[in-house]
This record gives sequence, structure tokens and C-alpha cells, in this order.
Amino acid sequence: MTGDRVDRAPSAVLIGFMGAGKSTVGRILADRLGVDFIDTDTEIVRTTGRSIPDIFTTDGPQRFREIECDVVLGVLRTHRGVIALGGGAVMTPAIESALAGHRVIYLRIDADAGFARVADSDRPLIVGDDPQTRYADLLAERDATYTRAAVFTVDAAAGDAGTVADEILTELAHALVGERVGERAVNS
Ligand code: S3P
Repeated sequence: MTGDRVDRAPSAVLIGFMGAGKSTVGRILADRLGVDFIDTDTEIVRTTGRSIPDIFTTDGPQRFREIECDVVLGVLRTHRGVIALGGGAVMTPAIESALAGHRVIYLRIDADAGFARVADSDRPLIVGDDPQTRYADLLAERDATYTRAAVFTVDAAAGDAGTVADEILTELAHALVGERVGERAVNS
């Protein structure tokens, strides 16, 4: 990223599967960086005035992805703090493309730990028969995309949310040094 782009970009964009802790870690990270935090699922609920399960059930998953795409692209353009994306957002090609060049961090969670965190939630993609297998299958399907879209990956189950946020801060510091080195090489 050039210096100009860095100044206008979000501080960090957290991606990963349901239950990875993107929102909890994102809030702590934003606090430690002294910037604002935004969760795109919350933004979808705020702008539509509807719940995510309602959009999925009434309008269908495709419509949800369209709404999500509009919201995420808008937030990427305007938000300067930490952003947590909904777990499926990166699977939309326009969103994956828009993430290129941003400080994208993949919070990786294994299927057992992740499912235990969301088993009692109302997430529309894991309702129905055998939600645990559905969770594990979807995670396996998406892992390569999350990895490809990210600048680095952290183990989301390695400690509490504060520990994960600290790990991200350390990695971000390295990434920032890399950006400055790249900038100097471009400008020299
Ligand atoms: C989804 C993840 C959810 C939410 C929606 C779809 C997904 O967000 O956007 O239920 O496709 O993985 P979280 O990752 O915040 O749970």
C-alpha cells in the first residue's frame, strides 16, 4: 500500500468463520488501537431494520449476500477503524477483490471449538439436521478462501480474546514495518 492508501484504509479487517470471535476480538483491538469498531452484520441489521435470520428466511441467502455486499463495500470505503466481516462475506467475489491491499486478518478456529461457541445461536446457516457436520463442512469449504484473502492468520482459540488481540497487534506492527519498507522502495 502507498502512504496515501494506508492513511485512507481501515486499520484492520477481521475475517473468519462463525464463532471465531471476530466481533469480540475486533472491539478489543479497536480499543487498543484507539480507533472505532464496526461489525458488518450489525450494520446490516441497522440499515435494513431486520434481523439476519429474517432476511435469510424471507428473502433467501442470495438476497442476504447482495445486501451484505453493498454494506461491506460501503464500510470498506468509509470506515477507518477496525472492521469485522460476517463469516460468509469473503465468499462473495466482489468482496474478496475489494479486500486486496487491506490489512486483512484471518481468525482461524477449528471446527469443534468454533461449533461449541455458536451451537446455541440462531445463525441461519447452522439450523436443521446435524448442524455440527454442516458447520465443519462449510468451514472446510471456506478455509482456503479465508487464508488467501488474509495478510496473516492467527489462531483464534489460542487464548482469550485479549490474547488474540495482542497477537494481532504484534503481527500488525510487523505488517506496518513491511508497508513502510515497501513505500521507501517505491519512493526511492
Ligand atoms: C454467516 C455468518 C454470520 C452472518 C450470517 C452468515 C456465514 O456472521 O453474516 O449468518 O455465511 O458464515 P458471523 O460470522 O458474525 O457469525
